[in-house]
Amino acid sequence: MINPWSSSQYFDYEKLIREFGIDKPNDYFDYFMFRRKLIFGQRGLDYLEYAIKNGMEFNAMTGLMPSGHMHLGNKLTIDQIIYFQSLGAEVYIAVADLESYATRGISFERAREIAINEYIANYISMGLKPCKIYFQSENFDTQSLAFILSNGTNMNELKAIYGLTDSSSMLHVNSPIIQAADVLHTQMRHLGGPKPTIVPVGVDQDPHIRLMRDLAKRLRIYSIKPDHGKISIFIKGTDNPERYINEAMEELSSKGYECSPNYEYRAIYIKNSKEEERIKIDMILARLEGKFNEYTFIEPSATFQKLETGLRGGKMSSSVPDSLISLNDSPADATRKIKHAVTGGRQTVEEQKKLGGNPDICPVFELYKYHSSDDKYVSRVYEECIGGVRMCGACKSEAAQNISKFLKNLAEKKDESLRKMDDYLIKRSS
Ligand code: TRP
Repeated sequence: MINPWSSSQYFDYEKLIREFGIDKPNDYFDYFMFRRKLIFGQRGLDYLEYAIKNGMEFNAMTGLMPSGHMHLGNKLTIDQIIYFQSLGAEVYIAVADLESYATRGISFERAREIAINEYIANYISMGLKPCKIYFQSENFDTQSLAFILSNGTNMNELKAIYGLTDSSSMLHVNSPIIQAADVLHTQMRHLGGPKPTIVPVGVDQDPHIRLMRDLAKRLRIYSIKPDHGKISIFIKGTDNPERYINEAMEELSSKGYECSPNYEYRAIYIKNSKEEERIKIDMILARLEGKFNEYTFIEPSATFQKLETGLRGGKMSSSVPDSLISLNDSPADATRKIKHAVTGGRQTVEEQKKLGGNPDICPVFELYKYHSSDDKYVSRVYEECIGGVRMCGACKSEAAQNISKFLKNLAEKKDESLRKMDDYLIKRSS
């Protein structure tokens, strides 16, 4: 079981793909995190690809927990958000201040300060363009949607997904639903939805992703099913299906589909459809459904990124300060931490020259692999390491220089980024 609340887990990525039905990305997205397989899996990414190829609007969404400092591991999510924004995504970011209040006792006022100073200022300095950032505690849409969504699940399901028990706190019941509402509310009608929505996450968030995808599907009236190589549509619920069938037939025929209805079975069979047209047909029907179902959502898509190894080996974790580089570390602190990092190097210089190092288990090499966008440079570092011509001391200094340059740049831009804050924070909605 994958548990988003446990902090000591290692992942066998191949096994996750086999056992949890996570899909591998294809090579449509040409971004270093995809090319280097730092994004090892995805769900529903074909919706995003479809939207982009057809010039349709789409969202990118993430949330931040305002506690502690932003570190290099969190940076990967924002790198992706900035990438999807460059492809045209409308970006939404939730500040999870309800969650940080409930789990860490952080007041809303303090959460706001942390979010702005420790996280959002860095996002802007990293290149995030104006977008919609909101606070959970102030967003009436997400709160009311969470209430509505809670009708779509039950304790048996939450126990199965999260391993909750009868004595689990209600917070553990509510927080996945709030998170689902964070993501799905970006598709509400008054925000131009329904639209494909991409949520880049660490794989520990997969249980939340599965739940929100199921909740989205359950609220739909039209359900789209591959059926012997073609597509069939079923009308869910117990209302008289006639109107839904007729409206869908009209819409689909206007797009060249030949449909035959079966009112008794609440179904439409599309004679000239192909199974591969599932997304296209789903998008046509989602937009139609949005006219009469206020809560019509397209199942959100997710990318899963690998977790960066901590500098001391093991997980990067705020409970081991020297395992991670915070984006507010001074270049001197970062350099010290990198100098003390474990590596994939050999015992002696002689041995390393003879046998080469092992970059595949080296957290210092990960600093290159996860944080430099230049493929040629990263391959050169890799080759030099395994070829025995790159020694750990020099490699650490070089990594420290790169990271220091990045940190210095963030620090220099901070004031300017803080001044731009109004272009990012949306006003409270109630
Ligand atoms: N729960 C996430 C965390 O602990 C934060 C979060 C809140 C989030 N809402 C979200 C993440 C929506 C992705 C999408 O970091």
